[in-house]
Amino acid sequence: MPSILFVCLGNICRSPTAEAVFRYKVEQSGLDKEMDIRIDSAGTSAAHHGEGPDKRSILAGQGRGYSFEGQQSRPVRQQDFHDFDYVLAMDSRNLQNLRRIKPAEAQTQPQLFLNFAETLSVKDVPDPYYGGAKGFDHVLDLIEAASDGLIDHLRAKT
Ligand code: 4NP
Repeated sequence: MPSILFVCLGNICRSPTAEAVFRYKVEQSGLDKEMDIRIDSAGTSAAHHGEGPDKRSILAGQGRGYSFEGQQSRPVRQQDFHDFDYVLAMDSRNLQNLRRIKPAEAQTQPQLFLNFAETLSVKDVPDPYYGGAKGFDHVLDLIEAASDGLIDHLRAKT
């Protein structure tokens, strides 16, 4: 059963969006009928622990049909590297943070989520927190592309 953890800084904007989009696309594509998939998200910072996703992320995501129900920010734990097959960072800063958090003996190596979007030339999902609504739409565009790529990747592995 593949397990996927999406990681950003606060776990209130980008990684909750990735969780919502990927969950939706897994259902739409029927991948959940082919394999059991565990999907979760977390932050490399604990500053927003226990909070729901940012209202601007919810607004932008709901506009495209995605649900953020039940999501609550939590920090990444060392155990996550034992529990998840894929630990996917939204940007290179968080990839660096994850490399520091990863226990040496854990098999799972963190990777950049946008590596799964082969047609994109950018590798980072930019932090939308201090910007306007356009930034949240851009986050969705990038995450949708990488989610499609990740679904193809998981299918190709079976
Ligand atoms: P996220 O966005 O990492 O996509 O959840 C941020 C959320 C909060 C902050 C920065 C980025 N912050 O500085 O509080």
